[in-house]
Amino acid sequence: MTAQDYDALIKQYEQLTDISQVILGDNLHVGYWEGADGDDSMQNATDRLTDLLISKLDVTPGQRVLDVGCGTGRPAVRLVRTRQVRVEAMDLGKHQVEQAIARVREEGLEDSITVRHGDAMDLEDYPGASFDAAWAIESLPHVPDRAHALREIAKALRPGGRLVFTICVELVPTTGDKRAFLDNYYRTFNASYPAFDSLPGLIEQAGLEVVELLEIGRHVFDKTMAAVAKGFRESADELERSVGLPTERTELMAESALRFGSMAETGYAVAVARRPVA
Ligand SMILES: C[S@@+](CC[C@H](N)C(=O)[O-])C[C@H]1O[C@@H](n2cnc3c(N)ncnc32)[C@H](O)[C@@H]1O
Repeated sequence: MTAQDYDALIKQYEQLTDISQVILGDNLHVGYWEGADGDDSMQNATDRLTDLLISKLDVTPGQRVLDVGCGTGRPAVRLVRTRQVRVEAMDLGKHQVEQAIARVREEGLEDSITVRHGDAMDLEDYPGASFDAAWAIESLPHVPDRAHALREIAKALRPGGRLVFTICVELVPTTGDKRAFLDNYYRTFNASYPAFDSLPGLIEQAGLEVVELLEIGRHVFDKTMAAVAKGFRESADELERSVGLPTERTELMAESALRFGSMAETGYAVAVARRPVA
C-alpha cells in the first residue's frame, strides 16, 4: 500500500467514525442487551458492553492499560472511573484523537489518561512489556494485518498481562449471494471479519494464550443494527451536511446494517487473551 493509499484509508476511517458518532453516540461500538433491559437507550447499552469488557480486563487500581483504537475516549474514561487505572489511549484518526483529548480534559482526567495519534500496526513507541493490560474494542476489523497488530500489542504487554478485544465474526463459511453481500459489506464499512474458529490460532500466533472466547451476537446485533438503520434514515440530511455522506448512500447503508445483523452466519466475539508468564 502506498503512503497515498494509506492516507486515503485514514480519511475513510475518520469519515466512518464521524458517521458512527452521529448514529451511535459517544461509544463507537455495539450495545449489549440481556433481555429485560429491552427498551434501554443505545448509550446505556453501549456502556453496558464497555462494563462487560472492563470485567474481563480484570485490572486493579494503579495498573497501566493500552487502549488501541480508542475512538473518542468514552470507554477509556469509564475504565478509569470504575477501576482507577492509568490509560494510554491511541487512535489512527486525528478527529478521534482530538475529541478524546477534549473529553479527557473536560473530565479532569489528564493525570490518568494520555491520548496519542498512532497506528496499531506500529507500536514501537511504547516500551515492550510495559502494560498490565490492553484492549482493542472494534478496532481490529480495520487494520490491514490483524496478526501483525496483535503481535505489536502482545509485545507491549508484560508477562501475565491481559488483552481483551472485540470483533464481528463469521460463524460458518458462506457462499453465493451471502458471500457477495458480506464482501460488499466489508468494502462499505472498510472492515473485514475473521471466522470465529480462527481466533484461537490468531491469538496464539501473536504469542498470547486464550483465556476466554465468547460469542454474543444475539445480545448485540438486533437492537444495535435497528438503531444504526434508524440513525442512517433519520440523520440522512445531517450526515450529508456534517460528514459529506451522499443521501443516496444512507438508505443502502441502513439496509446493509439490518441484513448483516440478522444473518445467522454472523456473530460478535469477545476475546480474552494473556501474555504467558514464562
Ligand atoms: C469502531 S471504532 C471503536 C472506537 C472505540 N474503541 C470505542 O469502542 O468507542 C474503531 C476505531 O479504531 C480506529 N482504528 C482503525 N484502524 C486503526 C489502526 N490501524 N490503529 C489505531 N486505530 C485504528 C478507528 O479510527 C476508530 O476510532
